[in-house]
Amino acid sequence: MLKNARVAIGLLLLFSFTTSSLATTAKVLIYSATADFRHDSIPTAIQALQSQGSSFGIQFENTEDKSQFTDQNLAQYDALLFLDNTGEVLDDGGKTAFQNYLNLGGNFVGIHAASDCLRNTTFYGHEVGAFFDYHPALQNATVDVIDASHPSTSMLPAQWHVQDEMYNFKSDPRAIGATVILSANESSYVDTGTRQDQGTPHPTAWFQERGAGVDGNGTPGRSFYTSLGHLNETWQDDLFLAHVFGGITWALQANTTLAFNSSAQVGNPSSASASNSTSSPSSTSAAPSSSS
Ligand SMILES: *[C@@H]1O[C@H](CO)[C@@H](O)[C@H](O)[C@H]1NC(C)=O
Ligand SMILES: *[C@@H]1O[C@H](CO)[C@@H](O)[C@H](O)[C@H]1NC(C)=O
Ligand SMILES: *[C@@H]1O[C@H](CO)[C@@H](O)[C@H](O)[C@H]1NC(C)=O
Ligand SMILES: *[C@@H]1O[C@H](CO)[C@@H](O)[C@H](O)[C@H]1NC(C)=O
Ligand SMILES: *[C@@H]1O[C@H](CO)[C@@H](O)[C@H](O)[C@H]1NC(C)=O
Ligand SMILES: *[C@@H]1O[C@H](CO)[C@@H](O)[C@H](O)[C@H]1NC(C)=O
Ligand SMILES: *[C@@H]1O[C@H](CO)[C@@H](O)[C@H](O)[C@H]1NC(C)=O
Repeated sequence: MLKNARVAIGLLLLFSFTTSSLATTAKVLIYSATADFRHDSIPTAIQALQSQGSSFGIQFENTEDKSQFTDQNLAQYDALLFLDNTGEVLDDGGKTAFQNYLNLGGNFVGIHAASDCLRNTTFYGHEVGAFFDYHPALQNATVDVIDASHPSTSMLPAQWHVQDEMYNFKSDPRAIGATVILSANESSYVDTGTRQDQGTPHPTAWFQERGAGVDGNGTPGRSFYTSLGHLNETWQDDLFLAHVFGGITWALQANTTLAFNSSAQVGNPSSASASNSTSSPSSTSAAPSSSS
């Protein structure tokens, strides 16, 4: 009961923070295409995101159609959310449009197997932070909060008991500038595999203030990744959803989209700065529309 009350308070705080910062609806595209292993929790995850989205001022659209990855289509989104993707889920044209979106300040969120796709695409590996290596069997484990100041972890217990897959990665996300915020307690579960050098403490969720997937001249948006989220039950757990929504709403607070930056080239065209003239009558004549 106490735990539920804490979650409720956490969600409330998150809610007020978000609504005061996002003047209008943010648009987020969920991409859940798979070309290899397919998680059966994908529909549960999409439903959970969509049913709570409006309380965070977020409109989720979802697709598995790689042809939606064009410059023009992606430009309307405040963030792209990769959910449980595996294998080669984009063609070359789609990858180029994705990289262009990131270069223009687009934000990224990756969840669970999102680190297991586009393995030969360097910019994607940098944007997600690290590629998945392997996981031991699904089991109960403890995940330590190592940075409670982030909106995705502030509501979690210091030692969070989960039933999930404890992912190992092929590299250390800290090497490309990520800040690790959740760490699997390796003594709390059984893993007989041989881990590669993923750094310590064990990376389980992280963020990048400046997403490393942009090329040299780009405007980096934000990136958030959590490796948790395997089971249907996980997506029905309010605490997990508070963690995920904390990450998404944090990513949406980047200054690189139209919601915050009237010269931005990506983001919901009907959001804050694009419709600034309506909220601030004195600036009507000075508010340009650059959405042509
Ligand atoms: C998870 O939920 C989906 C429906 O959303 C269902 O098809 C699937 O069988 C469930 N998985 C398990 C392991 O119960
Ligand atoms: C990725 O690279 C590996 C090793 O170079 C190669 O075997 C594989 O076919 C590539 N996969 C794709 C989808 O291009
Ligand atoms: C694993 O955790 C789940 C809930 O997270 C709990 O219901 C179950 O009893 C736990 N199993 C063990 C073996 O501790
Ligand atoms: C890690 O897990 C072990 C075994 O459950 C426990 O004894 C230890 O206190 C945990 N350490 C941390 C830092 O959570
Ligand atoms: C966004 O801009 C505001 C106002 O200039 C500033 O206070 C805030 O720190 C900036 N946030 C980021 C993530 O750059
Ligand atoms: C606002 O957008 C422009 C165009 O993408 C970019 O050059 C600039 O850096 C952005 N400002 C901030 C604070 O991110
Ligand atoms: C809206 O316009 C006002 C006045 O021109 C400006 O100070 C403010 O930063 C703008 N807000 C956004 C979100 O662009």
